[in-house]
Amino acid sequence: MAILFNETKSIFSLQTNHSMYQMKVDKYGVLLHTYYGAKGVPFDYSYLITYADHGFSGNPYEAGDERTYSLDALPQEYPVYGSGDYRSTALKVRYPDGSHACELRYVRHELQEGKYALPGLPTVYATEEAPADTLVITLEDTRKLFYVHLYYGILENLDLITRSVCVENHDAKVLYLEQALSCCVDFQHGDFHLHTFYGRHMKERTYQRVPVCHGVQSIGSNRGASSHQQNPFFMLTSPQATEDTGVCYGFSFLYSGDFLALGSKDQFDQTRILMGIHPDNFCYCLEPGDAFYAPETAMAYTDQGMGALSQIYHKAYRTNLCRGKYKTARRPVLLNSWESVYMDFDGKKLIKMAKDAAKMGIELFVMDDGWFGKRDMDVSGLGDWHVNENKLGCTLKELSDEIHALGMQFGIWFEPECINEDSDLYRKHPDWALKVPDKAPVRGRYQLVLDFSREDVREHILEQICQVLDSAKIEYLKWDFNRSISDIYSALLPPKRQGEVAHRYILGLYDMLEKLSARYPDLLLEGCSGGGGRFDAGMLYYTPQIWCSDNTDAIDRLSIQYGTSFGYPISAIGSHVSHCPNDQTGRITPLETRATVAMAGTFGYELDTNEIKEEEIPVIQKQIEEFKKYYDLIQNGHYYRLTNPEEYPICHGWEFVSPDKSEALLCIVTLQVQPNIVKRCMRLKGLCPDKIYLINGEEYPGSALMNGGYLVPYATTEYESFRIYIAEKK
Ligand code: DGJ
Repeated sequence: MAILFNETKSIFSLQTNHSMYQMKVDKYGVLLHTYYGAKGVPFDYSYLITYADHGFSGNPYEAGDERTYSLDALPQEYPVYGSGDYRSTALKVRYPDGSHACELRYVRHELQEGKYALPGLPTVYATEEAPADTLVITLEDTRKLFYVHLYYGILENLDLITRSVCVENHDAKVLYLEQALSCCVDFQHGDFHLHTFYGRHMKERTYQRVPVCHGVQSIGSNRGASSHQQNPFFMLTSPQATEDTGVCYGFSFLYSGDFLALGSKDQFDQTRILMGIHPDNFCYCLEPGDAFYAPETAMAYTDQGMGALSQIYHKAYRTNLCRGKYKTARRPVLLNSWESVYMDFDGKKLIKMAKDAAKMGIELFVMDDGWFGKRDMDVSGLGDWHVNENKLGCTLKELSDEIHALGMQFGIWFEPECINEDSDLYRKHPDWALKVPDKAPVRGRYQLVLDFSREDVREHILEQICQVLDSAKIEYLKWDFNRSISDIYSALLPPKRQGEVAHRYILGLYDMLEKLSARYPDLLLEGCSGGGGRFDAGMLYYTPQIWCSDNTDAIDRLSIQYGTSFGYPISAIGSHVSHCPNDQTGRITPLETRATVAMAGTFGYELDTNEIKEEEIPVIQKQIEEFKKYYDLIQNGHYYRLTNPEEYPICHGWEFVSPDKSEALLCIVTLQVQPNIVKRCMRLKGLCPDKIYLINGEEYPGSALMNGGYLVPYATTEYESFRIYIAEKK
């Protein structure tokens, strides 16, 4: 068991292969956090806690005259609002009498073999190679109205500890949860840097590193989706930490809706981390006997730098979060119609493109937006999920059959959660959209959002999707979502439950994705939200890949994919080669560079095949062959970031190394072409220092490539890229 319980000292030590997390129930029944860091001998780390008389930091009543005992200063496992701890807290409860003062005390705990699951929510799961243990610690409020069950999942071999919380009302009166976060970690010692991933539509997950300062630094989303603007993954590191060295902690939220992640340094220089559902759109009405489950947070620790931290998440999410056939099966190289023809197509045009694509070795043809209802522009049609045969000039089955006859698979786009007012569905069911009574709703991309907290709405949409999927052979579905949510109000819920709508919406989304994958287990699902507006670990439980960004410019993608790679595996990153000049930026980059960048992802194309020049066809054919050849290395190998594209403006590099270190693929994109320079060198990582490797017939010891580096060839054109295969000499 990865959980050690010292009964005499009331200490819980959770151990993974390289980390340890410790808590202690103290003499007043308060659950203190005592340690999270490198694994060592099991020991009572509470000796690190300072008890001192701090002015203006009150004392719980049980402490009597003991003025040195204050929750305002102690490291706690699940701090609550109104307990005399004036820092940001995890839980805020409105009692039946309208008050908020609350304190929690230990009641019991339970050890379970295996990994807990959460009703209706995504969780990391255990496997034979990565078994798990569960610890549930139950606290009760001192007024004895409710329990707080703290869940811990320990995935020893993955170096991952997961957290969740269940609040259970065991009283006869209604309680309101105004905030119920999933995880808190208190650090009494140490200066930290906070690393977050901010952005906007078409520029997601830009890396930012700042010191944790006095006060509160928070990121989050109140947009109803995890958002383009901030990502629900962040790192906390020592100020000295680099890619390859130093103490790093990761916090990843397995949730696709509103989130809050917060780091704060208190009056005693102690750092507190909190993560959970953002309280802005949240107030949960807990009836007697009801329980609320907070989504899971996955935490990781390493003292080997940020690269090692990323690798923990890459492995864990690939093998213990993603599910279904395509967790392991090779995903087809696709051609998507969006940046090819947008909504301007008919069946003939698509088939012509598919024919060209098949000749180049493309394996899946995806018909994006524009095939249903009245949909030649984005002003109408959403909600009417029936094939527009007039536009296509054929049935869906005929189109799919023709594409299959070319030896390709066929995929299709949906945006199930949204509705245009100009649609038959809206005309029939205007109350199905999220809208506040007597208020005109905020529109986004001419569309409203369907109330996915309602089962009847979900059932109708699912039924429509199934009818389409059953009408033809369809192997892939892109699930898009193209606006931020507003006007959060559900027509079916009473006023006291309106604070639950945003969360119920996400539970509804998950319910529908679960039903869809259960009914079509072989369907490859790709998540999408105007690119990467919902690129989170929650979605990865249902969709093993997510379209990373609506920006397909290869140079902009370097930063976007660099940022994404910190918390998510390469196999999750939807990435395509599009045409030039790029539709988003107007930039011109070589076709080979666009492929190099797209290969650090799921790989596909998104361009009009009619525009492809004759001489480019063999180039594309070769790219596809190359991607297939390196598929395993790219998707399942260890991924190393070699430079930060925001910091090093000369060239950007990354590398894939096979788990046995026998082969590697080094990828470099030049960012500047300069005359009369000495060659730059790129220091490789993850190779075996003693092995001899071959690059283009030349021999290099692994140590030379890692310590000295590999000389980057001179670029002859702007943005030239290099894909360099490295194999162990046998
Ligand atoms: C946004 C997506 O990110 C694009 O790839 C495309 O599917 C459009 N929506 C279609 O409306």
